[in-house]
Amino acid sequence: MASRKLAVILLAAGMGTRMKSALPKVMHPIAGRPMIHHLMDTVSGLDPDHVVVVVGPEMERITASVAPTPTVVQVERLGTGHAVAQARAALADFDGDVLVLYGDTPLITRATLERLLAERRGPRDPAVVVLGFRPDDPGQYGRLVVGAEGLKAIVEYREATDDQRKIPLCNSGVLAIDGKRLWSLIERIDNKNAKGEYYLTDVVALARADGACCAHVEGSPMELLGVNSRLEQAVAEDVVQRQLRDRAMEAGATLVAPETVCFSWDTKLGQDVTVWPHVVFGPGVTIGDNVEIKGFCHFEGCTVEDGAILGPFARLRPGAEIGEAAHIGNFVEVKKAVVETGAKINHLAYVGDARVGAGANVGAGTITCNYDGFNKSFTDIGKGAFIGSNTALVAPVTIGDGAVIGAGSVITKEVSPGSLAVARGSQMELKGWADRFRAQHHKTEG
Ligand code: UD1
Ligand code: MG
Repeated sequence: MASRKLAVILLAAGMGTRMKSALPKVMHPIAGRPMIHHLMDTVSGLDPDHVVVVVGPEMERITASVAPTPTVVQVERLGTGHAVAQARAALADFDGDVLVLYGDTPLITRATLERLLAERRGPRDPAVVVLGFRPDDPGQYGRLVVGAEGLKAIVEYREATDDQRKIPLCNSGVLAIDGKRLWSLIERIDNKNAKGEYYLTDVVALARADGACCAHVEGSPMELLGVNSRLEQAVAEDVVQRQLRDRAMEAGATLVAPETVCFSWDTKLGQDVTVWPHVVFGPGVTIGDNVEIKGFCHFEGCTVEDGAILGPFARLRPGAEIGEAAHIGNFVEVKKAVVETGAKINHLAYVGDARVGAGANVGAGTITCNYDGFNKSFTDIGKGAFIGSNTALVAPVTIGDGAVIGAGSVITKEVSPGSLAVARGSQMELKGWADRFRAQHHKTEG
């Protein structure tokens, strides 16, 4: 049974009107990636043979984002049963198990889906297995009507009797269906109900009428949280952030104030990393071992090697590669630049489209002038070079190994290895000028 084939249908055609957004609901991010990708990732852990995403009209953004996973368009939004029917052609002749998931329920775990499938593939061979849950506030969820012989029906809140509305066991929407029976059940769903929609939930009563049995398993309310509004999105974000912080600490990082640190789904921290309060990890960050991250840093799309010291208030943007034991200090921004082993950029600097050689020291206020309004150009700083404070390096420009740049320079030409370059107005001094100047003014005022 375990080798049975699996197809997954993800329903994402809903408008998500309560999000009040131009972006389709399932494209809204949780921990730095769209909700639908959280689900797709969980689903891929089940190694399905087919995945089909049902989208609404004008949702090309979802189609592009889930590619190469195929999407089918539900032109008219006639209900969850109708949405599943749209996947029929894409799953022609498929007779394994079919899992139906909702795109706006992104926190569901693989373990729960595996339990659902195990029940479906179990000895009772139920036609449909529904994932139920017991939320604190059952509100208007559909209710699972369960008898001695298993799941009897799902009743939508609008059609439920007063007694049925008291049932605490709710329908999460997630279900597993025997693919051999799926389409004959879907075909028979009608829309004679309070909403005038084709309810997927009707497959339970239809299967029972055929003499098949149905079953349910239960999941936790937290993982079945549906995201319909920005408020619910924030709750889901909070749940995922807690999981990510726990995971980081379990893997050997110290988070001094965990609740102030925001991770992305793909943040990688090495061992013995210390993260001080208020640090944000955007997508694509990898941090090595023994790295110290002081407060108020913001990172995305960067790598940091072992033993580096970052912040406070450091910003690493995409393409920043910080080498072993390098220091990036306060109010330093690094973009698309390789900072080699032991190099230091400690105060108030912008380094973009550059290489900073091993052991180089970049003084306070240094700027790589990488952009002329049209093109980006490269700055190459050799190993062991010393860039004096408040230097402007006008790219493209190369500073040789071990060269020294005098403070306040505007460097526009190559500096050869081992030399000193100073490019600023030279200092002049007029002895006694200030005294004479003041004396003259006192005279005219008096
Ligand atoms: C549905 C269930 C209800 C369950 C609840 C859990 C039905 C009839 N009812 O109700 O029992 O308790 O979810 O949240 O299924 N969708 C489409 N096309 C459509 C309609 C919906 O793709 O034509 C998608 C939506 O994008 C969404 C999902 O299906 O991802 C659920 O649709 P929604 O309208 O929210 O169903 P509920 O009324 O909440
Ligand atoms: Mg809903």
